[in-house]
Amino acid sequence: MAANELHETAKALVAEGKGILAADESTGTIKKRFDSIGVESTEENRRAYRDLLFTTEGVEEFISGVILYDETIRQSTTDGTPFPKLLASKGIIPGIKVDTGAKPLALAEGETVTEGLDGLRERLQEYRELGARFAKWRATYSIDANRPSEYCVWVNAHALARYAALCQEAGLVPIVEPEVLMDGDHDIHASAKTTGRVLNAVYTELHDQRIDLYGTLLKPNMVLSGYDTPNRAGVDEVADTSLDEYHRHVPAAVPGIVFLSGGQSDEDATAHLNAMNAHGPHPWQLSFSYGRALQAPALKAWQGKPENVEAAQRAFYHRAKMNSAARSGLYAPEMEREAVAV
Ligand code: 13P
Repeated sequence: MAANELHETAKALVAEGKGILAADESTGTIKKRFDSIGVESTEENRRAYRDLLFTTEGVEEFISGVILYDETIRQSTTDGTPFPKLLASKGIIPGIKVDTGAKPLALAEGETVTEGLDGLRERLQEYRELGARFAKWRATYSIDANRPSEYCVWVNAHALARYAALCQEAGLVPIVEPEVLMDGDHDIHASAKTTGRVLNAVYTELHDQRIDLYGTLLKPNMVLSGYDTPNRAGVDEVADTSLDEYHRHVPAAVPGIVFLSGGQSDEDATAHLNAMNAHGPHPWQLSFSYGRALQAPALKAWQGKPENVEAAQRAFYHRAKMNSAARSGLYAPEMEREAVAV
């Protein structure tokens, strides 16, 4: 595995105007999404929904990669083409979520550690054979008076780096995802401080565990006010506060920062990304790796009905196009009206 294959894959995932679709909801999470539209979470419904997203015509103009779940990477389109093969034929790089979830952290009430390292070397080999060229591992941190503890911050950073090393050994680009959760009534300064602590630990561990940063991507939270606080910071403050933390803590060798949407509305997620790019240039590409913020309108339009597939694909295409515009700071809320015209 030449090191430059990792570099090339990481760069391709943050190519100009493009970003990543996170379609790696675990069976439990996709059930929650389907519950919200009254659709039963059967294997066939999950396949049909992912089929709808991946076969959207022209979406490859805006989407560089898709993160799949273990079930999804083994599924096929309605005409029998395996999903990774379909994506690759459109020039979209298949990826895979490899953590097994955030579990209660022993002796740390209310905190979690992300698991999935046991057997990971063998699983990565299989995923590469199935077509994956990058992977994702998500750690989560809650904010309150006593959280996150240093213990939680460092064990998760250690696990993220162990995952990243195994990925690079296997020829997969690791997306390193430390997500500071925005639930709670904390202000944006508390988010900024915690995000800085977390990023500092993550890059210390990545360095100590010999990770080649040119062959990685960072998937962080944006720095927002807690969702329950009444006076939430506006778009420019979010952009500037977030950028300040990344400038302090993310080495310039990292080719790209690909944000999670983390429960923001789809239009907020686009506006925040746009503002950060408009305030550039930066040492890294700033792009998206959204789940909910790319899928919410499509899911709502679909409602589990075959006759709605086209409308759902139009909604997905539109959101991808808006986020593509935000990659270069050229998005404006007025562009949302195009949704019906596409
Ligand atoms: P959201 O954009 O819905 O937060 O999901 C992104 C993701 O992959 C979380 O791990």
